[in-house]
Amino acid sequence: AADIADDLAHVLLTSQQVSDRVADLAAQIDADYAGRELLMVGVLNGAMMVMSDLTRAMKSHCYIDWMAISSYGSGTQSSGVVRILKDLTTDITGRDVMIVEDIIDTGLTLSYLIQNLRSREPASIEVMTMFRKPDAITSAVDVRYVGFDIPTEFVVGYGLDFDGRYRNLKDVATLAPHVYS
Ligand code: PRP
Ligand code: MN
Ligand code: MG
Repeated sequence: AADIADDLAHVLLTSQQVSDRVADLAAQIDADYAGRELLMVGVLNGAMMVMSDLTRAMKSHCYIDWMAISSYGSGTQSSGVVRILKDLTTDITGRDVMIVEDIIDTGLTLSYLIQNLRSREPASIEVMTMFRKPDAITSAVDVRYVGFDIPTEFVVGYGLDFDGRYRNLKDVATLAPHVYS
């Protein structure tokens, strides 16, 4: 099989940096939700890694459910069209909900998702994202927990893909030019 390392340009964040930050956020969430039970809503497919690491780093019990949403298709640019591919299996009415994302780029996906979930009348709804590109945001989103603000460059790894690939890279890295041609 092809070695991922051959396709990378530079590593932006190492897996160690990511896991240290995940531990910080987990402790913060534990403290903020002391005595309450969270329903963590992961956005497939990108949030698979952060959901898995964050929930295991938390000391408090939580529930986990998933939605699949797509705005990107196969390219590197947002198409502007948000589609629900898979809805929650849980009724979130009256629940404390935390949306878990790998990245906020334009904010389009989350703006749509928050609006959609709010209409189901949860007790509370907050957002946790591992990465955010502050300079790329076009739809303002209220985000409670952010792992790292990163530059507006296309990056892969830790759940982030290019055309469905590179999600399983442990670090977060940019791709070498030959990958795009
Ligand atoms: C990516 C990423 C976020 C969203 C962020 O998902 O995982 O969910 O785009 O972009 P935005 O802020 O501009 O909306 P994608 O649609 O690529 O699906 P995936 O998670 O399956 O890769
Ligand atoms: Mn996604
Ligand atoms: Mg994607």
